[in-house]
Amino acid sequence: MFAWHLISNFIQTLPLYIFTLSSNVNAATYKPVLPPSYPLAVRNPYLSAWMPGNQVANLPTATPQFWAGQNLSWSVLARVGGTTYKLFGAPASLTGSLEATLTTAEYTSTHSYFTLAAGAATFTLDFFSPVSPKNYLRQSLPFSYLTVSVSGAASHDIQIYSDIDESWTGQTGNTVGSYNSSFENGLSLFELFVKGAYLYSEIKDQALWGETVFASKPTSTSKLSSQAGTAASVRAQFAANGNLTGSTTFAEGNVVGLAHDLGSTSNSSVTFAVGYVREAAINYLGSARTGYYRASYPDAGTAVSHFLDDYASAYTESLVSDAALEQKAVATAGSNYSDILLLTTRQAYGGADVTIPNDTLNTSDIMIFLKEISSDGNVNTLDVIFPAFPIWYVMSPEYIKYQLEPILQYFETGRWTQPFCIHDIGTHYPNATGHDNQIEEDMPVEESGNIILLAYAYVQATEDLAWAQKYQSLFTKYANYLVTGGLDEPVQLATNDCCGPLANQTNLAIKAAIALNAYGKLFNATSYSETGLSFANELYNEGLGLDSARTHFKLQYGTNVTYGNDSDYAVVFNVYPDILFSLQTFPSSTYSMLASYYPTEQGRAGVPLDSRVDWSSTFWTNWAAAASPGTEDSTRDLFINDVWKYMTDGLNTPPFSDRWFAIQGSGGLNNGGSGDLIGGFDAWRNRPVVGGHFAVLALEGADQF
Ligand SMILES: *[C@@H]1O[C@H](CO)[C@@H](O)[C@H](O)[C@H]1NC(C)=O
Ligand SMILES: *[C@@H]1O[C@H](CO)[C@@H](O)[C@H](O)[C@H]1NC(C)=O
Ligand SMILES: *[C@@H]1O[C@H](CO)[C@@H](O)[C@H](O)[C@H]1NC(C)=O
Ligand SMILES: *[C@@H]1O[C@H](CO)[C@@H](O)[C@H](O)[C@H]1NC(C)=O
Ligand SMILES: *[C@@H]1O[C@H](CO)[C@@H](O)[C@H](O)[C@H]1NC(C)=O
Ligand SMILES: *[C@@H]1O[C@H](CO)[C@@H](O)[C@H](O)[C@H]1NC(C)=O
Ligand SMILES: *[C@@H]1O[C@H](CO)[C@@H](O)[C@H](O)[C@H]1NC(C)=O
Ligand SMILES: *[C@@H]1O[C@H](CO)[C@@H](O)[C@H](O)[C@H]1NC(C)=O
Ligand SMILES: *[C@@H]1O[C@H](CO)[C@@H](O)[C@H](O)[C@H]1NC(C)=O
Ligand SMILES: *[C@@H]1O[C@H](CO)[C@@H](O)[C@H](O)[C@H]1NC(C)=O
Ligand SMILES: *[C@@H]1O[C@H](CO)[C@@H](O)[C@H](O)[C@H]1NC(C)=O
Ligand SMILES: *[C@@H]1O[C@H](CO)[C@@H](O)[C@H](O)[C@H]1NC(C)=O
Repeated sequence: MFAWHLISNFIQTLPLYIFTLSSNVNAATYKPVLPPSYPLAVRNPYLSAWMPGNQVANLPTATPQFWAGQNLSWSVLARVGGTTYKLFGAPASLTGSLEATLTTAEYTSTHSYFTLAAGAATFTLDFFSPVSPKNYLRQSLPFSYLTVSVSGAASHDIQIYSDIDESWTGQTGNTVGSYNSSFENGLSLFELFVKGAYLYSEIKDQALWGETVFASKPTSTSKLSSQAGTAASVRAQFAANGNLTGSTTFAEGNVVGLAHDLGSTSNSSVTFAVGYVREAAINYLGSARTGYYRASYPDAGTAVSHFLDDYASAYTESLVSDAALEQKAVATAGSNYSDILLLTTRQAYGGADVTIPNDTLNTSDIMIFLKEISSDGNVNTLDVIFPAFPIWYVMSPEYIKYQLEPILQYFETGRWTQPFCIHDIGTHYPNATGHDNQIEEDMPVEESGNIILLAYAYVQATEDLAWAQKYQSLFTKYANYLVTGGLDEPVQLATNDCCGPLANQTNLAIKAAIALNAYGKLFNATSYSETGLSFANELYNEGLGLDSARTHFKLQYGTNVTYGNDSDYAVVFNVYPDILFSLQTFPSSTYSMLASYYPTEQGRAGVPLDSRVDWSSTFWTNWAAAASPGTEDSTRDLFINDVWKYMTDGLNTPPFSDRWFAIQGSGGLNNGGSGDLIGGFDAWRNRPVVGGHFAVLALEGADQF
C-alpha cells in the first residue's frame, strides 16, 4: 500500500522531472556526480543541513533541509554593481532580484562547492564542514563554514548577504534571539534559543536545548552590517541598498541577516559561520558532558570567533585530506569507489560528538558519542559503531576506543548484569543513561562479538594493548558467552533487527568464531582461539552452515530452522574482520567460494542482503566486497558499482541512505512487494554506518591519515 503510493507519485511527477532535467540539469556540470543530497553543514547529529540533489539545478530558489527532512531557511543574495541576484535558498517571490545560473556543483570529502553566473560576476558558494579526525578541538567545534567568493567583476561594487531563521532551533514560533557585536575582534553574532526548552530534549531529531549561532567577521576589505526583521523587509533592505540597518532586535518569525560590502573588487571572499551550540552536550549517566572545544573556548562567542579565525588552517588541512582520500580510493578500487567515499566522510563523522566532562573540562577524559541516526536514535549502539569502524580504523583509530569507553565504564559500575554484551548506552540521544533495568534491544551474540572485534581493531591499529588489558575481564566475560552461545544459538535478534529473531543464524556464528579467535590472539588465550577455529571447522569444513553443493552459506543451520534450505543464503559480511586482521579463522577457500557465489544473486539493482529480503545494504555489501578476493576484483567491483549506481541513479533525495531495493519484492516480511521502486530508497538516512564504505580501503592499512 505504502510503496504503491510512492510509485504512483513518482509516475505522476515524472514529466515535470524530465522537463526539469532537460531545462536545467544539462546546463550545469556535476563533479564527480550528482548525489542524492549534498552535505551543507554536517558536523554532528544536531548540525546537519543538506540540499537534495534534485533541487540543485535551481539552487537560487532551492530549500535546504535538516537531515530528517524539515525545511531550513538559509538564503544567500549578492549585488553586482547594484543588481541583486539570488544565489541560494531565496524565495522565487523575492522581488527586485534576478536568479543566478548554476554552472557547476561539486563535492569533495569536506566541501560542497556551487558556482553560479550572476551578470558580470561569478560566485562560488563553498559549504565547508571540516573533518579533522585527530584534531579534537577542531572536530568538536559545532559550526560549519559558508564561504562566498566572487571573481570576474572588476570595477563593479559587490555586496554579499546571508540569513537564517528560527527553523534551525527546532521550534518555530517559540524562539528568542540575541545579537552581540561588542567583541574586540569584529565578530557579529546572532544567537537563537527556544524559550523554556527542557534540557536534552528534541523535536523530530532537532535539539531544542541549545542555541543556533550565525556569525561573521569583516575582512580587511569588507564592511559588515546586520539586521533582524521579517524576511521580506531584511532582504528588501539588502536588495535596495546593499547593506543592513543595524536594527538587530529579533522577534518571532524573523530572519537574522549579515551583509558584507566589499566595494569594487575583482576577486574576494567572505565567510559566514552557522552552528548549533549545546553547553551540556550529552547526559552520561546523569553527568553532563560538553564539547572538547570548551576547555579552550568556554562560550558560543569565543568558540565561533575561534572557528572563524581557524578558517585558513582548517581549509588547508581539508585540501590535503580531500586530495589524499580521493587518490587513495581511486588507487584502491577506482573512481566509483572514490565517488562513494567522498560523499560518506562528512556523514560518518557528523554522527558523533567529541566530549569531555562539563564540570572539570578534563581533556584527558574523552568520550565520543555516536547517534544511531534515523533508525532509532540509540546512543553508541555497538552494531552501529561496528559497521562504521572501517572509517575510524583508516582515519582515526582512537575514535574506536573513545566510543567504547562510555560502555566499558558503565559495565564497571556493575549496573549491567546480563551475561552478554549490551546493545547501546542509551535509548535516545543525547541521554546516555544506560539500561539499569536490563531492558533493551538484546542482540547477545551480535554485541558480544562486536565489542571484542572492536577492541581488537583498536589494538591492531594503535598497538595500545595496555588499554585492552585494563578491560580484559569484561572482554573475557563476553568471550565466555560466545563459547557457550556462539554456535548453539538460541532464538535472538541480529543487527538487521527488522527481520525478526531467529535461532542459529550462520552469519552470527561466523562472527562468534572470528571474535573468539581474535580474543585468543589478543590475550594469548589459546583455548579461545581453538574454540573459534572449531566453530569455523563445523560451519565450513564439515558443512554445517553450507548448502549441500558447498556453494554458499545458508541463512540458518540446524535441524529445525525456517531458512535452512539450500536456496537460502546470507551475505555473510561478518567474515570481513577475519580478512582485515589476517586471523585465518576460516580457510581461504571460504573466501573464494563466496566471491564466486555472490554474483549469482545479483538482481536488477544489487545483491539482496539475504534470501528473505528484497533490499541491499550499502555498507554491509562493502564489507562483503572487501572479503571477496579474486585476481580480477570482479565481485568486489560488482558490489561497489551497485552502490554507485544507487547513489547516482537520480531516483533518491535523502542524505546518503544505506538501504535500497535491489530486486522486485514478493511481499511478506521485510519485503515491500511489487510496489518497490528498484534502485530506489528503502529506509534510513544520514546514518553513520556509512563509515563501513571504507572497508575496502581499510585493507590497505590502519591509520592512513
Ligand atoms: C519545504 O520546501 C519545499 C520546497 O521549497 C516546499 O515545496 C514545501 O512545501 C516545504 N515544506 C514545508 C512543510 O514548508
Ligand atoms: C557581548 O559580548 C561581550 C564580549 O564577550 C560581553 O562582554 C557582553 O556581555 C556581551 N553582550 C551581551 C548583550 O550579551
Ligand atoms: C532526555 O532525558 C530528559 C530527562 O529525562 C528528557 O526530558 C528528554 O526528553 C530526553 N531526551 C530525549 C531526546 O529523549
Ligand atoms: C547603506 O546604503 C545606503 C545606500 O547605499 C547608504 O545611503 C547608507 O549610508 C548605507 N548605510 C551604512 C550604515 O553604510
Ligand atoms: C583570486 O585571488 C587569489 C589570490 O590572489 C588567487 O589565488 C585566485 O586564483 C584568484 N581567483 C580568481 C577566480 O581569480
Ligand atoms: C555545565 O557547565 C556550566 C559551566 O560550569 C554550568 O553553568 C552548567 O550548569 C553545566 N550544565 C550542566 C547541565 O551541568
Ligand atoms: C583527567 O582524566 C584522566 C582520564 O580519565 C584521569 O586519569 C585524570 O586523573 C583526570 N584528571 C583530573 C585532574 O581529574
Ligand atoms: C602475548 O604474547 C606476546 C608474545 O609472547 C607478548 O608480546 C604479548 O604481550 C602477550 N600479550 C598478552 C596480553 O599477554
Ligand atoms: C542449532 O545448532 C546447534 C549446533 O549445531 C544444534 O545443536 C541445534 O539443534 C540447532 N538448533 C536448531 C533450532 O536447529
Ligand atoms: C522446532 O521449532 C519450533 C519453533 O521454534 C518449536 O516450536 C518446535 O518445538 C521445534 N521442534 C523440534 C522437534 O525441536
Ligand atoms: C524448504 O524446503 C521445504 C521442503 O522442500 C519446503 O517445504 C519449505 O517451504 C522450504 N522453505 C523455504 C523457506 O523455502
Ligand atoms: C561505475 O559503476 C557503473 C554502474 O554500476 C558501471 O557501469 C561503470 O562501469 C562503473 N565505472 C567504473 C569506472 O568502474
